[in-house]
Amino acid sequence: MSNAPIRVGLIGAGFAAWDLKVPSYAALDGVEIVAVADPSPDARERAQRELGIPAERCYADPLELVAAGGVDMVDVSTPHHTHCEILVAAADAGIPIACDKPLAMNLREADLIIGAAERTGTPIGMLQNFRWFPSHARVTELVGEGAIGTPTFASVNAIGVFAPDVGGENATSWRLRSALAGGGILIDYGIHVIYLARAYLGGAPFTKVTAHIDRMVVRAGDVEDHATLLLETASGAYASVSLTWGGGSTGNATVFGTEGALKVVHEGGLNAPHNAASAVALTQGRMEQRLDPLTWEVLPLDWYYRGAIASFVARLRGTDDTGPTVDDGRADLEVVLAAYRSAATGEPVTLPLSAADPVYQHGAAGLRALDLPEDSVVLRHDLFRGEADA
Ligand SMILES: NC(=O)c1ccc[n+]([C@@H]2O[C@H](COP(=O)([O-])OP(=O)(O)OC[C@H]3O[C@@H](n4cnc5c(N)ncnc54)[C@H](O)[C@@H]3O)[C@@H](O)[C@H]2O)c1
Repeated sequence: MSNAPIRVGLIGAGFAAWDLKVPSYAALDGVEIVAVADPSPDARERAQRELGIPAERCYADPLELVAAGGVDMVDVSTPHHTHCEILVAAADAGIPIACDKPLAMNLREADLIIGAAERTGTPIGMLQNFRWFPSHARVTELVGEGAIGTPTFASVNAIGVFAPDVGGENATSWRLRSALAGGGILIDYGIHVIYLARAYLGGAPFTKVTAHIDRMVVRAGDVEDHATLLLETASGAYASVSLTWGGGSTGNATVFGTEGALKVVHEGGLNAPHNAASAVALTQGRMEQRLDPLTWEVLPLDWYYRGAIASFVARLRGTDDTGPTVDDGRADLEVVLAAYRSAATGEPVTLPLSAADPVYQHGAAGLRALDLPEDSVVLRHDLFRGEADA
């Protein structure tokens, strides 16, 4: 690939794209948004006004953008039920894809996407953007350098996470509809804490999942608003992660090892894993030291996706291919689906999921095909009914 700017087709121009990605693209050299696809006329009009994209390069249907070509990659940030069709079309057309989480709604869809990418040799990268936040990147690097010996336990929690339009009786967000989102906070935000916990523990895959989900505060829709997961690796290292939706943003990110612990420090409150941190602390015995205070550019949020996008662009340019791939996206999704299965049945789930499992085939929508106990959270809260207007 030449050094000409990489031409990006932005598919989905909502919250993630406008508030988080556009500033990140603007802060990067060598990338240029040249086309946008979104069914919302307002989003397309905004793309013309604010990004200077010509009207003929603003599409209502992402498949039109893919067919028109003239892009070196697409960046997909649309509701989850649309990912499979968009990714398969782009992969069939040989257009490299940077995809937001989750890769898809279930593993059958994930396999279709991977099959299309393999047929055409098209790179697909997952935007595991939190991994490039300075705090999480530093913890992961220090673990790799042996700063805490062998990592044994990670605790990553995101409590009271704000998400657009998930509160109140009349909330209409697609995030609250299992037919559109594939589940609630677990498939939406949980993927971040799962890949962070895996990175904190040195990268080994999770092999066993035990989970609890609940619906505590959210009133609209048919999905969970709380999840707690116990994630085990084959070596015995494990992670505990908890998530709830709400209006705040608290939490923590810590990893313990045989010779110490590392934690992300937020001096200014708002300490969920997605917030700007001020330092990383290394604890050994009763001593704690702050390592390299982190410098942040809090506004605009150009750091939010900058590292993740830069990593995918480096892959396209052939300068670095260590970023997260479609297989990593599939692995994260499999952990999420195993957690839904465990929470619904009350039993731990050993990975991999069988292709014959209704959850493999249909995601959360397949849970009702299992032999669920009478007190299953799915039945108690009438979750995952699957109607688009739930
Ligand atoms: N990685 C992160 O930090 C992060 C943060 C927020 C959202 N996300 C992800 O980004 C994606 C979008 O979330 P959001 O918060 O921006 O949602 P949103 O509802 O704010 O925006 C979604 C946009 O997609 C458009 N859309 C709907 N169907 C479409 C289709 N078929 N083709 C093209 N566009 C379509 C909508 O009109 C809307 O503009 C999701 O996958 C979500 O999980 C990731």
